[in-house]
Amino acid sequence: MPPVKTPQPFQFDEKVAAVFPDMIKRSVPGYNDIILQIQKLAGRFIKANSHAYDLGCSLGAASLAMSYGNQQHDVEIIGIDNSAAMLKQCQRNIDKFKLTTPISLQQEDILRVQFKSISMLVLNYTLQFIQPEQRLGLLNNIFDAMLPGAILLISEKIHFRDPKINQLMIELHHQFKRDNGYSELEISQKRSALEKVLLAETRDKHLQRLKEVGFNQVVCWHQQINFASFIAIKD
Ligand SMILES: C[S@@+](CC[C@H](N)C(=O)[O-])C[C@H]1O[C@@H](n2cnc3c(N)ncnc32)[C@H](O)[C@@H]1O
Repeated sequence: MPPVKTPQPFQFDEKVAAVFPDMIKRSVPGYNDIILQIQKLAGRFIKANSHAYDLGCSLGAASLAMSYGNQQHDVEIIGIDNSAAMLKQCQRNIDKFKLTTPISLQQEDILRVQFKSISMLVLNYTLQFIQPEQRLGLLNNIFDAMLPGAILLISEKIHFRDPKINQLMIELHHQFKRDNGYSELEISQKRSALEKVLLAETRDKHLQRLKEVGFNQVVCWHQQINFASFIAIKD
C-alpha cells in the first residue's frame, strides 16, 4: 500500500482551482440552492449605479449568478480573491459567457478593500477563512459602504455549542460527503487540512455580530446540516 501523506494545511492553489466546482458541490450541502437564490436576490436588491461584490469569489459562481440576476443599468459586479490560481480560472469561466452586466476581478485581500456604493455583497463561504478577531472590522467596513436597502449575504460552515449535537452534525456532513463519492481517507485528510484555516462559529454568533454591526434586519434563511446562510439588510 502507498504511504499515507501527512495532510498539508489547505490552500486555494492550482490543484484546488482545477477541481473546485466539483469539490464544493460534493462537500457543501445546499451550495447549488444558495447560488440560485443569489441570482434571485440580485434581481430584487441590486440598484442602478451601484456595485455588487463577491468576496472570495473563487471561480465566480456567485459573481455569475449576480450578473445573470441583475436587471438594472450601470452596475458593476466585482469579484475579489487573494488566490492568483483561483482568479486565473475564474477569468476563463467568465469569458465563456456573454454578460450584459460586466464582472471585473481583483486580486486583493478582502481586509484591504475600499468598498464603494454597495447594493449587494456576498461572502459565500469566505468569512470562515478570516481570523475571528478581524471579522467584525471587515463587516463594519462593508456596512459603512452599503446603500440604504442594500443586502449582505453570508454563507458559512457552522459550529454547535452542544458537543453531542456538534458531533452528530459532523457525522451527518461526513455521510453527505461519502454519499457524494468521497472516501474515508479523503474525508479525514480534508478535515485535518482545514482544521486550522476554517474557523467555524455558531449561528447565534453570526446573528449577534450582524446586529452589533448595525443591521436591524437579520435572518438565517438557509441551513442544511452544519452549513448556514444569513441575510442582513441595511435600513
Ligand atoms: C470556499 S471559497 C469561496 C467559494 C465561492 N465564494 C463560491 O461561492 O463558489 C473561499 C475563497 O476565499 C478566498 N479567500 C480566503 N481568504 C481571503 C482573503 N483574505 N482575501 C481574499 N480572498 C480570500 C480563497 O482564495 C477562496 O477562493
